[in-house]
Amino acid sequence: MSTFQTIDDLHLTGKVVLLRVDFNVPVKDGRITDATRIVRSLPTIRALIKAGAKVVILSHFGRPKGKPNPEFSLRPVAAGLSSHLNLPVAFAEDCIGSVAKTAIAAMENGDVLLLENVRFYPEEEANDADFAQKLAALGDVFVNDAFAVAHRKQASVVAIASFLPSVAGRLMQEELTALSKALVKPEKPLAALVGGSKISTKLDLLNNLICKVDILVLGGGMANTFMAAKGLAVGKSLHEADMLDTARTIMETAEAKGCNIMLPKDVVVATELKENAPCQTVAADAVPTDAMIFDLGTEAVAEIKATLALCKTVIWNGPLGVFETPPFDKGTNEVAICVADLTKRGKILSVAGGGDTVSALDHAGVTNGISYLSTAGGAFLEWMEGKQLPGVVALENSAPDAKKGKMII
Ligand code: 3PG
Repeated sequence: MSTFQTIDDLHLTGKVVLLRVDFNVPVKDGRITDATRIVRSLPTIRALIKAGAKVVILSHFGRPKGKPNPEFSLRPVAAGLSSHLNLPVAFAEDCIGSVAKTAIAAMENGDVLLLENVRFYPEEEANDADFAQKLAALGDVFVNDAFAVAHRKQASVVAIASFLPSVAGRLMQEELTALSKALVKPEKPLAALVGGSKISTKLDLLNNLICKVDILVLGGGMANTFMAAKGLAVGKSLHEADMLDTARTIMETAEAKGCNIMLPKDVVVATELKENAPCQTVAADAVPTDAMIFDLGTEAVAEIKATLALCKTVIWNGPLGVFETPPFDKGTNEVAICVADLTKRGKILSVAGGGDTVSALDHAGVTNGISYLSTAGGAFLEWMEGKQLPGVVALENSAPDAKKGKMII
């Protein structure tokens, strides 16, 4: 459970609000190629403008390794934000010191200013208290709307909250409310769809989910490792031979906890991964020695769809096949369309997150059909792993005068 104040609890007229967002958006040749994170931050920015605050935005962008680097400048993002807000957005070439102070001094109530990438300073990633204090000295209040970076213990996410009254922005509230509905207080039965290539990168996730969900549907490369652990031949398929014991332990624990792990009954195999490669659907125990598994088979998809239809909550992380290479996108597409359809008919609450998952849902044309699509990648994963996110904890423990009228999620 998270307990903290929100922007509605504060009087912000004339106050300099330091708003931490995650504007780590994809940019190519100076143009933003996916503005989702900017668009999703607009409700908070608009609410702050309406309240008459001076909105000073902090963000990281990429991984510049603690040095100024024009390649990682947030300047193009200021222009993008301005066009989405339909208002001017000023830009300051430094996030601390006289450059930032002068830009803030020139602001009127309701103005918006974006400061340069906080990761141009190594102190940001070191969660350095002196650096956080320099950031905090610029404003009156700290608003954290950057759920997508809440898993990082960094100065503009964590340390800053000990120097200013600190509250959650609208997107932070929305993310925590949705994730909490999906995993903390879900309507049951609860199913998790988990895909991706390796179990070694998702061990914490799998170990947490088997204690929480009724059904764990596995797809993608990681399902191959579980199939191999059950003694099935997986041909030349991607699998982790050194993780078979781990997979067996996960399956035993799941059984003891009453979690049903669903592996594909049949699979689509081919001898090479390329678009429209010749392929066939075979039973899970009949994978040819020279073949590789690239997708769920027809029976597997039908079984997943029938199972999801009996659920009330579905949480999804990771594609269920090699969706980037048709026709191996069919399984993921069909399951995605089924989840969107059940959501639309009010049968399930669906929550999804992670870069690949969002791309897969986009590919299936159903990003608007999911109850809640997280803006986070790593933070979504860590939250699903049951870990405490330092950025959320920092809000809970924020400055003493921010402790009245707390919001409880
Ligand atoms: C993300 O895109 O997941 C966040 O912005 C965090 O970025 P990072 O992995 O570079 O900390």
